Amino acid sequence: MHHFEYKNNRLQAEGVDLAELAADIGAPFYVYSEATLRRHINVFTTAFAGADTLVAYSVKANSNLAVLRVLASENAGADVVSIGEMMRALKAGVPPEKIVFSGVGKTSDEMTAALQTGIYQFNVESAPELETLDGIGKRLGKPAPVAIRVNPDVAAGGHDKISTGRKEDKFGVSWEQTRALYAIARDMNGVAVKGVDLHIGSQIADLAPFEAAFNKAAQLIADLRSDGCNIERLDLGGGLGIPYGTGAVPPHPDKYAELIKRVTAPLGVQLIFEPGRMIAGNAGVMVTRVLFDKKGENRRFLVVDAAMNDLIRPALYDAHHEILPVVRRENAKETIYDVVGPVCESSDFFAKSRALPEFNAGDYLAVMSAGAYGAVQASQYNTRPLIPEVLVNGDQYAVIRRRPSFDEMIALEALPGWLA
Ligand code: LLP
Repeated sequence: MHHFEYKNNRLQAEGVDLAELAADIGAPFYVYSEATLRRHINVFTTAFAGADTLVAYSVKANSNLAVLRVLASENAGADVVSIGEMMRALKAGVPPEKIVFSGVGKTSDEMTAALQTGIYQFNVESAPELETLDGIGKRLGKPAPVAIRVNPDVAAGGHDKISTGRKEDKFGVSWEQTRALYAIARDMNGVAVKGVDLHIGSQIADLAPFEAAFNKAAQLIADLRSDGCNIERLDLGGGLGIPYGTGAVPPHPDKYAELIKRVTAPLGVQLIFEPGRMIAGNAGVMVTRVLFDKKGENRRFLVVDAAMNDLIRPALYDAHHEILPVVRRENAKETIYDVVGPVCESSDFFAKSRALPEFNAGDYLAVMSAGAYGAVQASQYNTRPLIPEVLVNGDQYAVIRRRPSFDEMIALEALPGWLA
């Protein structure tokens, strides 16, 4: 459920009219609904009411400070994958003791900074990472709280590029090596074993792969305990999919919670979650303006002012995003369009052969479900400025990241002395 709805055929974000917003700040831009963010995080936490949990929002999905502040105010923790993300989370008001640090390639500097900050948990992904962290823990005289990310060898995820829990993926420690690595960690002085971690992929549309992976984790915990390891937490990662308007409806968080409670109840562990997409995905849309209606020989191209550098999901994952007119015309004729951006690559598209109501140049359209992995994956390719982000709360809005000036865009570049 989200708060982007038509009122008198005009698409609103909560109480804000998107066509008026577009006229005010200029397209393209992202707009997020604060009520939707709050709703999603609460649906998730409520599903686990009564259980000992830490819901660590996965910052990578949408790391805007204002978004993080909204979620922090709902008591969310943060799952970070870089020191930059940790700094954002702290700045937004997430306390260190609710921060978990994931990722397959943490640098020593990052591990040191995170340990000094006093984060809750490092999710360790390899033997050499464990050794490095142990060294840092010893040097600082402060054992690093760790979970080892195990790779359960389960196929899951909406696309090959976002499936992370198979043997051939770079993530986690292979099942066969896990117990031995825990035994090493158990005897280290620079780390303190706290739990088990896994994350099997993203945009997962059914419960079966979760169930397979979580059952394996439960068995592992029993084995590790019999090896004398202290396992008091189980981090189940993120990955629950969202509806993208294709008709496929992923499981409701309540069903997901039911499964998890059933599998983990006998373990007596704290449950950690790292949801990203399901919190932010349907809490945001990208608004773009039609530049040209280009009639090719056998194709109709709707050329819009946003491009793959602003929202790369269709180009990178063939992702489907629903496209809606910001102002709906009664009885509009349908046309089959390719909706494309101005970048000089054929992968620069938002929809292919999509039946949409007819648009005219100057019309705005909304690319839906763009709140997660949208703005965060944007680039300045083609020297296109990063597009603004706007947060709506009821009938008020604020620009939470403004469009940079050309000078700001090139400010970090310099001519070497011999060319100046
Ligand atoms: N935890 C870890 C360790 C992760 O790697 C991820 C996502 C999450 C949590 C959050 O997963 P979520 O709840 O959002 O599914 N850019 C891609 C998605 C990449 C996901 C990477 N890892 C996309 O646009 O579909």
